[in-house]
Amino acid sequence: MRRDVQDPFSAVRLGPATLRNRVIKAATSEGRSSDGMVTDELIAFHRTFAEGGVGMTTVAYCCVSREGASAPGQIVMTRKALPGLRRLTDAVHSAGAAVSAQLGHAGVVAPKKLTGVTAVAPSRFINPTSFAYCREITRDEIRIVIDQFGAAAQVAVDAGFDAVEMGSYPYTDLYMLEAARQFVPVMRNTKLILLGGITNHDHVQTGLREGFDFVAMGRALLREPDLVNKMIADPATRSRCTHNNKCMVTVFGRTHCVLDPQRRYGTVPTNAPEAVALPVAES
Ligand SMILES: Cc1cc2nc3c(=O)[nH]c(=O)nc-3n(C[C@H](O)[C@H](O)[C@H](O)COP(=O)(O)O)c2cc1C
Ligand code: SF4
Repeated sequence: MRRDVQDPFSAVRLGPATLRNRVIKAATSEGRSSDGMVTDELIAFHRTFAEGGVGMTTVAYCCVSREGASAPGQIVMTRKALPGLRRLTDAVHSAGAAVSAQLGHAGVVAPKKLTGVTAVAPSRFINPTSFAYCREITRDEIRIVIDQFGAAAQVAVDAGFDAVEMGSYPYTDLYMLEAARQFVPVMRNTKLILLGGITNHDHVQTGLREGFDFVAMGRALLREPDLVNKMIADPATRSRCTHNNKCMVTVFGRTHCVLDPQRRYGTVPTNAPEAVALPVAES
């Protein structure tokens, strides 16, 4: 279902929310939470993309429980986290963007060193990447995790989020387009987002012309949080991201573009708490 695209940078509805444009900051694990809570640094990080022009920013990997964490410095979606989450959504909204929470449970890749409990999987399993032993999850535990997703979604709603997100290749521009195209004619009553190798105005236009409702950008926005504003000002703008993937290793500290080590992703008050790893839960 190809269609003519008017203006990718005009307002659009996403369910009950209105986004000012169709470009979404994709989730890129932040490592800026302290003890599962929102920090000023995490708020500054997302406000940077909001001020840079995106329609919506995504808070990456919000764990539905401490046992479901995959890396240090992640939010845990408890009621206790609500006041901080509300400050975050207010800060993003006041800069004109919407905000989504990516909900997750790491399952087989939840490191025991971080969570304090043995990871769970559909069957007993040795994780080939970490060599960690995972035990088989029980049916009762699956029900508990399902409930945790529901409770986490409710926390997101109560905190003012506009959306929740559930959910090695050689880099080429628009590298997911061919695979994603097959969903356009068959998906009904669902908004589709094209992701992967979107770095400029032409890519945005191509995604929308192909029938997707939004495009999401990951690395290009880590490199230049204000890329959307630049594209609006000059459609010929080209991204400075080299797609060398060196930012991937930074997710174990504070996620950032290594080609721009001075980038602060917003100003943080000097007395802001340090982002630290989640404490190990008692088993
Ligand atoms: C540093 C980094 C961290 C990422 N963390 C997450 C994450 O927490 N959750 C997720 O779903 N995807 C994560 N991703 C994948 C991105 O959301 C996105 O799918 C990917 O970068 C492809 O889009 P791009 O070609 O525009 O960069 C991460 C990517 C990078 C580079
Ligand atoms: S480290 Fe490389 S891939 Fe990551 S944002 Fe910077 S230039 Fe892009």
